[in-house]
Amino acid sequence: MGKFFFCFFFSFLSILPLPLLKPVVALPLYTNSRWIVDEDGARVKLACVNWPSHLEAVVAEGLSKQPVAMISKKIGSMGFNCVRLTWPLFLATNQSLASLTVRQSFQRLGLLESIAGFQANNPSMVDLPLISAYQAVVSGLADNNVMVILDNHLSKPGWCCSSFDGNGFFGDQYFNPDLWVQGLTRMATMFRGVTNVVGMSLRNELRGPKQNVKDWYRYMQKGAEAVHSANPDVLVIVSGLSYDTDLSFVLKQELELTFTGKLVFEMHWYGFTDGSAWETGSPNQVCGRVVESVMRRGGVLLEKGWPLFVSEFGVDQRGTNVNDNRYLNCFFGLAAELDFDWALWTLVGSYYTREGVIGLEEFYGLLNWNWCEVRNSSFLQRISALQSPFQGPDLSDARPHKVIFHPATGLCIVWKSVFEPLTLGPCPESDAWSYTPQKTLIMKETYFCLQADGPGNPGKLGIICTEPGSKWESISDSKMHLSTKLGDGTTVCLDIDSSNNIVTNACKCLSGDNKCDPGSQWFKIVNATNISTRPLIQISSNLDLNGAEHAS
Ligand SMILES: *[C@@H]1O[C@H](CO)[C@@H](O)[C@H](O)[C@H]1NC(C)=O
Ligand SMILES: *[C@@H]1O[C@H](CO)[C@@H](O)[C@H](O)[C@H]1NC(C)=O
Ligand SMILES: *[C@@H]1O[C@H](CO)[C@@H](O)[C@H](O)[C@H]1NC(C)=O
Ligand SMILES: *[C@@H]1O[C@H](CO)[C@@H](O)[C@H](O)[C@H]1NC(C)=O
Repeated sequence: MGKFFFCFFFSFLSILPLPLLKPVVALPLYTNSRWIVDEDGARVKLACVNWPSHLEAVVAEGLSKQPVAMISKKIGSMGFNCVRLTWPLFLATNQSLASLTVRQSFQRLGLLESIAGFQANNPSMVDLPLISAYQAVVSGLADNNVMVILDNHLSKPGWCCSSFDGNGFFGDQYFNPDLWVQGLTRMATMFRGVTNVVGMSLRNELRGPKQNVKDWYRYMQKGAEAVHSANPDVLVIVSGLSYDTDLSFVLKQELELTFTGKLVFEMHWYGFTDGSAWETGSPNQVCGRVVESVMRRGGVLLEKGWPLFVSEFGVDQRGTNVNDNRYLNCFFGLAAELDFDWALWTLVGSYYTREGVIGLEEFYGLLNWNWCEVRNSSFLQRISALQSPFQGPDLSDARPHKVIFHPATGLCIVWKSVFEPLTLGPCPESDAWSYTPQKTLIMKETYFCLQADGPGNPGKLGIICTEPGSKWESISDSKMHLSTKLGDGTTVCLDIDSSNNIVTNACKCLSGDNKCDPGSQWFKIVNATNISTRPLIQISSNLDLNGAEHAS
């Protein structure tokens, strides 16, 4: 019994629904139009977290703090079904790097404390070659039913990314396209038959002065074909240009491939993607403008029938970064509306070493510095809203409806009983609404519609749906204020009170005021269906570790 048994799981678990019958994902995964589906055609929404393994040490972070089995189990218990596990190209192409042991890798970097911690928490891995340690992490995730996307993050191990780090685009100092295809082929081959490896991201965040569309098609096609022929089971995930913020060119010219049903596009979207615009501008205006731009540069691929995996987004989870906080409200609105697959940046509580700082704490990380507790349980609760799918491929009994989503809390409007006010609750427990051409919001299979009763009063359900206060329109630049006109001509917006009950108030922050945060008044009418979904997976890994023990 190691000391790690003192690292208890967080109590929020009690609020997560634990279905009695766990639906099982039938791997491998495929694409069906914009959806990622399993072998039975059921939607599998990728709700991943990034677990970096591409920094100088070339070891998955955190293993000096907790056993791999413990971390893997925690990932599942936090509601994630998948990890985007990064790797540097040289791990696959440089034999003398790949064969360094974990201990030697830490030693050459002078990370003696990491060796001691690693020895204590993962004794069976400390003398494994780096490549076997990477496999052991994949295996630890498999043991805990977590799917893995292998992400080629850069070439030369280290923190990513800058435009001039030599890793940005084909032809850069460390980015030889042929070597890259070789490395992809090796990784694809190595994980062939490892069922929990469901996808490969070909290259993270293409960027820099050399980037151009012509070479993108030339090499992405080569990389994609190489991966598919070495391992036809994996989803082939391709990134756009400009730090993976731009896929607009794909709309004009398709990426031609010999295979179908496996191609997924990935895109990144952070608050800082737009500098400090969220803090210096009015959130309504910035959200409207940025969403329009995100749609144009990639979101529209969904409408064209391609899956879009937002493989990096995240915020400072201390909640102290105004830019991040405002961005996150807007992100949540679009993420629910489009119901795309995603990977949060990041799992990491602290790094072995990053940018020269030993033990650097990661405030974007789900776990705290010692990789033991959840950094911010309210953040985790909120993100759980996006872990379950809202929709899926068309099925005859899909019963399309709407839910009314509140991005700032990650909750939806629910009606518990006639004796209780309309309030917010978990979206899977939301009532089914319909949004009629007359712009009334009617609770399906009832005569009730959502009505405003005057500023400061609770929102209510009425039955005379032609009355003033029954017609709801999405207004403001963000289109996320739900407003209605009362009998006396005043306009109010849907809002929440301090107990998360639904109220209506004067609409706030509609003018371009950058001091004003409209977050509590942002709602999204989101498409939903009642299709059966498979957030939980059960897999068995048949990975041969070449004599390495499982760390569990
Ligand atoms: C391969 O890795 C070794 C060990 O890290 C390093 O010394 C060497 O420079 C690398 N070679 C290349 C070509 O990157
Ligand atoms: C968690 O996030 C919320 C919302 O951003 C913030 O108010 C709170 O202070 C954070 N808690 C911790 C422990 O950082
Ligand atoms: C929601 O569903 C409606 C009706 O089927 C459709 O017209 C609309 O495009 C959908 N919206 C999104 C964002 O998928
Ligand atoms: C969806 O709703 C229909 C009609 O109410 C029902 O027959 C069907 O069983 C539901 N499907 C799921 C998966 O809940």
